[in-house]
Amino acid sequence: MFAVYAEKFSPDDPLAGLVVGERPDPVAPEGWATVTVKAASLNHHDLWSLRGVGLREDALPMILGCDAAGYDEDGNEVVVHAVISDPDWRGDETFDPRRSLLSEKFQGTFADRVVVPRQNLVPKPASLTFEEAACLPTAWLTAYRMLFAQGGLNAGDTVLVQGAGGGVATALITLARAAGLRVLATSRDEAKRARALEIGAHEVFESGARLPVKVDAVMETVGRATWSHSIRSLRPGGAIVISGTTSGPKLDDAELTRIFFLQLRVIGSTMGTRSELEKLVTMLDASGARPLVDRVLPMTDAREGFASMAKGDVFGKIVFTR
Ligand SMILES: NC(=O)c1ccc[n+]([C@@H]2O[C@H](COP(=O)([O-])OP(=O)(O)OC[C@H]3O[C@@H](n4cnc5c(N)ncnc54)[C@H](OP(=O)(O)O)[C@@H]3O)[C@@H](O)[C@H]2O)c1
Repeated sequence: MFAVYAEKFSPDDPLAGLVVGERPDPVAPEGWATVTVKAASLNHHDLWSLRGVGLREDALPMILGCDAAGYDEDGNEVVVHAVISDPDWRGDETFDPRRSLLSEKFQGTFADRVVVPRQNLVPKPASLTFEEAACLPTAWLTAYRMLFAQGGLNAGDTVLVQGAGGGVATALITLARAAGLRVLATSRDEAKRARALEIGAHEVFESGARLPVKVDAVMETVGRATWSHSIRSLRPGGAIVISGTTSGPKLDDAELTRIFFLQLRVIGSTMGTRSELEKLVTMLDASGARPLVDRVLPMTDAREGFASMAKGDVFGKIVFTR
């Protein structure tokens, strides 16, 4: 079948190991389902994989892609939950030490078909297109858990979203606004700041700019480049929820003094549960909020999408269709 896969790792030139070609048809084990992929979305995770982060060399060649929406064997429209937990695991899947994301241990979604445990299928409502639904399993689910499960935020709270242009960041802005939060966002780029206002931010600022108010929580995916500003933007007792370090994990100053003196909370967040994905789908269905799709490309042009993400030339999600 057609597939987009990683053939080798290249830390400095991730696209060098990307192949748009053919891979064997997947075979669904007992209890697993075969999904015919209609749309899949690109995540920074796919670039990390090509750089050799989070993927083992002996797992190559590996079909990339965590997110997909399509049809199950009975023709039902489904969204795929990308977290594959151990069959014996009970409870919150994100705490399973043996969990993996699609494309880490099991073949990913950038292909004609993908096999996943049947319990990982979530019904897709007719109100969401396949392209929109394909944005949800990684970036949007991560944003949902950061805000509502780990952040515990409610209507009326003020939140800062760093790096407004990213897939997770645009999801954070849209979801926070839909839930009645006051949303502040930063971006290095003026055009991205303007677009952040269009999708729901109340106020936007240049990266690193002093904010007019201290916020209840900061949603952090950028890491080193914004960490200090994030800590300095919090009110006493506020929380920083972190799910990524795009600009690198090594901090110049962790702001430890400020963290203890202002009694700040630092909370990690990773992906989300199947149940949270179901709630996210319901929230979008009911609220009319929709993922921001930067562009839709045929999966055969996947290389173009990867190149744009590597350059940071993206606002919202890049979606591949079959
Ligand atoms: N833990 C999890 O479960 C999980 C799930 C999803 C994603 N992640 C991680 O979260 C991060 C974001 O993922 P994504 O898919 O949203 O990636 P993305 O779409 O590529 O987001 C990149 C954004 O980060 C900002 N950024 C990058 N470098 C920066 C720098 N030096 N200074 C300031 N801002 C910078 C940019 O914002 P501006 O250009 O607007 O400034 C850019 O738009 C990735 O590291 C990813 O691995 C983790």
